[in-house]
Amino acid sequence: MSFTSSHEQQESPSRPKVTIQSIQQKKGKQRITCLTAYDYPTARLVDEAGIDMILVGDSLSMVVLGQENTLAITVDEMLHHTRAVRRAVHSGLVIADMPYGSYQLGAEEALHNAARFIKESGAEAVKIEGGEKRVGLISRLRDAEIPVMGHIGLTPQSLLLMGGYKVQGRNLTDVEQLMRDALALERAGVFCIVLEGIPREVAAMITAEVHVPTIGIGAGPECDGQVLVLHDMLNLTFAPPAKFVRHYADVAGVIRHALESYKVDVESGTFPSDGESYHLPGEIRLALESICERKRALRK
Ligand code: KIV
Repeated sequence: MSFTSSHEQQESPSRPKVTIQSIQQKKGKQRITCLTAYDYPTARLVDEAGIDMILVGDSLSMVVLGQENTLAITVDEMLHHTRAVRRAVHSGLVIADMPYGSYQLGAEEALHNAARFIKESGAEAVKIEGGEKRVGLISRLRDAEIPVMGHIGLTPQSLLLMGGYKVQGRNLTDVEQLMRDALALERAGVFCIVLEGIPREVAAMITAEVHVPTIGIGAGPECDGQVLVLHDMLNLTFAPPAKFVRHYADVAGVIRHALESYKVDVESGTFPSDGESYHLPGEIRLALESICERKRALRK
């Protein structure tokens, strides 16, 4: 019997498989990298770049499916994309975001949905939003052998209650609640915690207080790691970027330029060229030409 999984057997020789243990060991020693990905080609590039964790975020709903927020995306849609990501990734840790409605409506349904992500898509962990109120559920997920990434601060699935995407933890009461949430998640057994949209000082305090890694997005540089939405950092979105987004490339610009060039080339007849066309073998071409010539001669 082999003790390596099929994914471990396929892993690229240059990088050992990332596990929840290797992520946790990085705390206080090495910063952790995380990006979202939603399909095979981008997940493959993210993994080949050596990024530690690949999150199939429910931001998929907005940045890929064009929906207004993350609330509408379904478990089946998330599973479909997580499967594609899983096929592409050999070393990074693949985490599936549990979408709105898949874990808020009762523990049994939440456990069933989380198990689907592990079984049907090959995700290695799930992410759920919320602090103290998720403690019971996280313990149940752990009992079901499912690693959980926590997520507090600006939690986009709470959009309706929050009344918009607003930076959280700006007064003492809210900071104390965030700290209680982080400590509760740690006690419940999450392997790391996403801190989204909170002041740098608050993220630094939480990071110093908890023993599990914190992964920041709009939470300043003191977090143990950082996550960004891939389409944001590549400039492949159509809204003005949030303050915390850094553009590492202008992929929208590259695609626009390519599309415009293609249109010009087709319309001017310069695409495809002779070199981009298939050809008959010489003897068949000669035979065809002589048949055509004979037909033309008969017609005269
Ligand atoms: O859905 C997502 O992309 C996320 C990250 C921003 C953490 O939850």
